[in-house]
Amino acid sequence: MASARRYVEETLLNAELVKLLPKFLAPIIGGALSRCLNSHKIFFNSLIPATEQRILEKDMKSNGYQIPQRADCIQWIIETAPKQSPWSAERVIYELMAIWFGSTIVYVIHDLCLHPEYIEPIRRELEASYEDFERTGQGLPLLDSFIKESTRLTPVEFMSVRRQALQPFVLSDGTTVAVNEWACAPSGAINTCAEYYPYPETFSGFRFVDSTMLPNTQEYPTPTATQTNPSKLTDVDPSFLMWGTGRMACPGRYYASAFMKVVIAQLLMSYDFKLVNPGATRWISWRVAKIPKPWTKVALTARNGGP
Ligand code: HEM
Repeated sequence: MASARRYVEETLLNAELVKLLPKFLAPIIGGALSRCLNSHKIFFNSLIPATEQRILEKDMKSNGYQIPQRADCIQWIIETAPKQSPWSAERVIYELMAIWFGSTIVYVIHDLCLHPEYIEPIRRELEASYEDFERTGQGLPLLDSFIKESTRLTPVEFMSVRRQALQPFVLSDGTTVAVNEWACAPSGAINTCAEYYPYPETFSGFRFVDSTMLPNTQEYPTPTATQTNPSKLTDVDPSFLMWGTGRMACPGRYYASAFMKVVIAQLLMSYDFKLVNPGATRWISWRVAKIPKPWTKVALTARNGGP
């Protein structure tokens, strides 16, 4: 687990250093760094035996043997991999490592602690519709909006849509991009631009929900700001570039956002949580990254006598 945690930080560190280096030095220093920072290897090698065992069990099952019931992430990846050409243990772990890396959930947990008035309405939504969501992957508009608002104000990266010009390119304002030059979109700045978001600096957890769904009752925090058009976390739009844009927009976004909802929903249904030190800074900003500080502690208390 220590290597799994370190692997994300080490990969970000290595990537940022490589981006700063001159082109001819990048592969040399990048290669040397990834040999020294070896958490990814420990993470990978530790999971291979268990994954090989699962693949063996799958084959045994198809030959009629009784095998133990498994329900975890590795099993899920094996079962949803293409049926025609099943993945090797290595391929399954690469997938798992990519998913582990993609997690932006920690800021959502912080935001629930900082804006506890949203917890009860979201819990009511979960009580009413979580089973349907598990079955269909659809629904939970309040939780969807809360996560979107959290990622809008606390994106892990402030830059998106990185594109290298293959031919000379002129942007609509006259800026030219020469061949091999890079252009990117300042997604973090766009997220707090008043042109796109009323009260852009204000956290308004249900701003993306269709306002007709929020009847005028005391049961919901009065939205400080709402968007003219409702939208979903997975929507790709020039004003919300978390997933990039156009043909290259993240194809994993449906999975990633469903996964975030599962984790937050399970936590909300099973635990009360609070930030141990709500006033403390929660991230380290470096270049375009906003990395959660590992020492920001959240205290969890089981609800209803749970584990
Ligand atoms: C919170 C988690 C995630 C975020 C914020 C995210 C964000 C992004 C962004 C910004 C891009 C670049 C899009 C562009 O340049 O226009 C991208 C590309 C991509 N993402 Fe994700 N992603 C996440 C999770 C995932 C997951 C879980 C998967 C796979 C299971 C995935 C698979 C991909 C792939 C394959 C591409 C390349 C698409 C292409 O080049 O055509 N992503 N992602």
